[in-house]
Amino acid sequence: MIKIWIVGLLRAAWIAGTLPILIASLPFSKLTSFHGLLMGFAKRGKIMQASSSKFSVPQKFFSHFYVVAVIWTTLLAVTTWYYAYKTAPMLSDSLLYPRVASHLTGDSRSFSMSRFHSTPFRDRYKIWQSVFLLLLMELQVLRRLYEALYVFQYSNAARMHILGYLTGLFFYTAAPLSLCCNWALDTSNFAVNQVLKFIVRGKDGMRDVEFDWSGFVTPLLKLGWCEWIGALVFVWGWIHQYRCHAILGSLREQKEESDEYLIPYGDWFEIVSSPHYLAEIVIYAGILIASGCADLTIWLLFLFVVANLVFVAAETHRWYLRKFEDYPSKRRAVIPFVY
Ligand SMILES: NC(=O)c1ccc[n+]([C@@H]2O[C@H](COP(=O)([O-])OP(=O)(O)OC[C@H]3O[C@@H](n4cnc5c(N)ncnc54)[C@H](OP(=O)(O)O)[C@@H]3O)[C@@H](O)[C@H]2O)c1
Repeated sequence: MIKIWIVGLLRAAWIAGTLPILIASLPFSKLTSFHGLLMGFAKRGKIMQASSSKFSVPQKFFSHFYVVAVIWTTLLAVTTWYYAYKTAPMLSDSLLYPRVASHLTGDSRSFSMSRFHSTPFRDRYKIWQSVFLLLLMELQVLRRLYEALYVFQYSNAARMHILGYLTGLFFYTAAPLSLCCNWALDTSNFAVNQVLKFIVRGKDGMRDVEFDWSGFVTPLLKLGWCEWIGALVFVWGWIHQYRCHAILGSLREQKEESDEYLIPYGDWFEIVSSPHYLAEIVIYAGILIASGCADLTIWLLFLFVVANLVFVAAETHRWYLRKFEDYPSKRRAVIPFVY
């Protein structure tokens, strides 16, 4: 029941975040003021005028998102991974039967009750898939934390709306959870149980607990082509986002007047104005593919990311065109050759 609530709430939150953006993006003049209102919350940095800095926080607070994201994603990844290792060995059902039989006939060496679960093979596979998705997420948030601290040179004047800030904190709590929400409750119960066991038994009592390291890694390597194609797409976006962020960070190093904005060149900047947003969309498309494209919660997370970033990218493109007369005319906002 609680599990249904967690999944339902996450889905409702992604829909509630996406729908207003989609409505505001419809080309009806009656929606202009609604579009302006929403953009007021979404604007940050260069596209946010100094006059609208009421209820705002410095844009360098972006680093808070990634501190939260790294702590939370690590916690979810570690507990889900341990839960998968203990309760969902990735053997096919046919491979499990001889183990069960040998257990029933008294050969307890080959079978540990704690490692066998009545979980169907499909669910065991899905649990390991969640571990895989959380590891991808971990790669993303670790790099973003590093960039927020060491690559971006946020200007002192750059700000974001307080609602944008709260949305960011919500996003980095809900996004990792969406990748493992089907098991989150079981995982947390299991983790609490393990901690209690540790407290009751003490350090000495846990000494005989064996770790089979290959049992942690082999199931991940046995995942299917969907996960690996998704990982490739993810890495493609990840590398380009890193390059584009490095280009943005280097623009400030070139200038004495450090709060100036310049036209960025290189990598995907040659084709779109916000290639770092495009790369973010590719990254989440990779996660979606790795999830097998069959989980509605992950679809809704992906749609939120696309709607949110395309919305801000359109405004960023308009800002570049207004600010620089010599702005490259072939560049689109965020979708190469299209938009
Ligand atoms: N998953 C999501 O829903 C989501 C949502 C939001 C952001 N993100 C990701 O977070 C990353 C950062 O986003 P952001 O909106 O903060 O990026 P941004 O507004 O483009 O700013 C990034 C940094 O680059 C600087 N900068 C930008 N354009 C510049 C220019 N023309 N000349 C000189 N410096 C420039 C900014 O300076 P200032 O300090 O002066 O602004 C800031 O320090 C992106 O990769 C994005 O995909 C993801």
